[in-house]
Amino acid sequence: MSPAELKRAAAARAVALVEDGMRLGLGTGSTAALFVALLGERVRAGLTVVGVPTSEATRMAAEAAGIPLTTLDATPDLDLTIDGADEIDPELRLIKGGGGALLREKIVAAASRRMVVIVDGAKRVETLGRFPLPIEVVPFGLVATTLAVAAAIRSAGCAGPLAVRKGADGTPFVTDGGHFILDAGLGRIPDPEALARALVAVPGVVEHGLFLGLATGAIVAEAADGQPRIV
Ligand code: 5RP
Repeated sequence: MSPAELKRAAAARAVALVEDGMRLGLGTGSTAALFVALLGERVRAGLTVVGVPTSEATRMAAEAAGIPLTTLDATPDLDLTIDGADEIDPELRLIKGGGGALLREKIVAAASRRMVVIVDGAKRVETLGRFPLPIEVVPFGLVATTLAVAAAIRSAGCAGPLAVRKGADGTPFVTDGGHFILDAGLGRIPDPEALARALVAVPGVVEHGLFLGLATGAIVAEAADGQPRIV
């Protein structure tokens, strides 16, 4: 089975968690986009929900799917957020931000009573770090901030290259919040909590892609005999 089929199976299972009247956080990325499309089908069939999108891309997709939207300011207490992830470990710790939406994704997840992660089985790891860790930074003082981030990474027992994420045109990728992203290729993060503490202490770091203690559940779709199996 292709990753896309597995992502769709996870998204379909997540849609079944949605109940009438729920206030939802809507994640970002290809898996979350499948969830939004399937949720739209239920909304058009009569389900009443309201959603807070975690990116402009998701806002547009949700609008196109007919899902009523609100803002986190108007609805600061959400029932359930459904979002994808780039990596998930056995303690439901995540790396997110491959799509560049980590800041809004983390704010929305923190405002939700439950956050359920939808992934295909390839995202499961024993130790986080194979996927480059996204770190969102303000453009001002980029070189100084990058040096300080590198020192913070070393202080947490990690090592690896840091690169400013670039768009297709070769210029820095700009997030919905107007920031840049540093991708840290660490390979292995032995102590995610220590790294998270070190990163937030760096002036210029807006947020990082370690989601620790936020996910309350996960729907992982793996292939078994050609069929998706949810674990
Ligand atoms: C966006 C994210 C995504 O959830 C993550 O990158 C996974 O994306 P996909 O479902 O396309 O594999 O964190 O910032």
